[in-house]
Amino acid sequence: MAIQNTFIMVKPDGVRRGLVGEVISRFERKGLTLEKIRKLDIDEDLARHHYAEHVEKPFFPDLLEFITSGPVVAMQWSGESAVSVCRDLMGATDPKAASPGTIRGDFGLEVTENLVHGSDGIESAERELDIFFG
Ligand code: RTP
Ligand code: MG
Repeated sequence: MAIQNTFIMVKPDGVRRGLVGEVISRFERKGLTLEKIRKLDIDEDLARHHYAEHVEKPFFPDLLEFITSGPVVAMQWSGESAVSVCRDLMGATDPKAASPGTIRGDFGLEVTENLVHGSDGIESAERELDIFFG
């Protein structure tokens, strides 16, 4: 298996709650490498671009309000099978269902405010890294 790069973002709830260091620490301790990091505010245009696959979904208005509600911390992480390894460390989309020991399982309770975003495949990782770091 080859080294991969993936896009990870601490969402506004994670930044507000002071969990940026906790999230970074978990990926670092796993053995992944932090390649790039930036803090920014996501505006509506960027939200619609990043979450293009969800724009027509019924939950998009809530997601849009949430993701634009405060700064996020965007990151590029690399490592062996980084895309799936990071998704496993994050846990299931709904924190109520996420296993203890995962980021969402340990710190979240509500599906919209689920702390972190991670690319769900190699192609989406390339697309999202280009949006935030290209
Ligand atoms: P993400 O893209 O943020 O890493 O999350 P994910 O792959 O685990 O989940 P996805 O299906 O891509 O959904 C994107 C984000 O939209 C919010 N969401 N709300 N109310 C709902 O039913 C619902 N479903 C999804 C979450 O913030 C989710 O992470
Ligand atoms: Mg997703």
